[in-house]
Amino acid sequence: MAKGNVSLSVIRRLPRYHRFLRELSDNGIVRISSGDLSKRMGLTASQIRQDLNCFGGFGQQGYGYNVKDLYDEISKILGLGIPRKTVLIGAGNLGRAVTQHMDFSARGFQLIGMFDTNPSLIGQKIGGVEIYDSSLIGEFCEKHHPAVAILCIPKEAAYELAAVLISHGIKGFWNFSHYDLTIDYDGIAVENVHLGDSLSTLCYRIHELECPNGEQRLNEQPPN
Ligand code: NAI
Repeated sequence: MAKGNVSLSVIRRLPRYHRFLRELSDNGIVRISSGDLSKRMGLTASQIRQDLNCFGGFGQQGYGYNVKDLYDEISKILGLGIPRKTVLIGAGNLGRAVTQHMDFSARGFQLIGMFDTNPSLIGQKIGGVEIYDSSLIGEFCEKHHPAVAILCIPKEAAYELAAVLISHGIKGFWNFSHYDLTIDYDGIAVENVHLGDSLSTLCYRIHELECPNGEQRLNEQPPN
């Protein structure tokens, strides 16, 4: 199947396969059956086969998967071999947390600069990466050609900056701001990250366990 025809749900499972295979490889496991992999990952063996078949299928009947080979193949599919130059906008609480806790190089990214409007932050370094004045972003992009921007800024700032960044060659956004970038931009890859959405989904699922009866859910009063 051509890469462009693979469903987003399959693509979203790839990093998880990748992570599990990495752990297996780190633990010295050379080969694994689709049944064993499925038990560890909480998926069905047929789901795993279907997912991997989207990219040609990598297992062998009676052998299963070679862990290292499959890990390398998924790395290639994810495009992890080519580090994408990346800038982070907004070196506040979230920007710092993302910078300090994310292993960008393991995921195919290279953080080359951070930007903020707060003069007291400019010139500081986080994890060896310098914070520059936000007004210099265009100049920086023309010189260093980053392809990706991580947005850790308020909604209004993201709205204003997105167009500027795109005009300077940014092709992908890891967007933590509450501005929903996909609404306005075609041909740009966007991953919107909303921790609040994930928490609300958890809320729904807990609620579902507590009262599976839909009517009861609708008649319930929200908490004060
Ligand atoms: P913060 O106030 O600690 O940091 C925001 C930083 O952005 C500040 O350093 C500020 O000077 C800078 N900034 C503002 N306008 C800018 C611009 N035009 N260019 C460059 N820098 C600019 O806030 P925090 O906690 O880091 O959150 C940042 C944003 O992320 C907030 O708007 C918040 O709503 C959002 N957020 C989203 C989450 C999510 O799950 N998507 C989770 C937490 C926060």
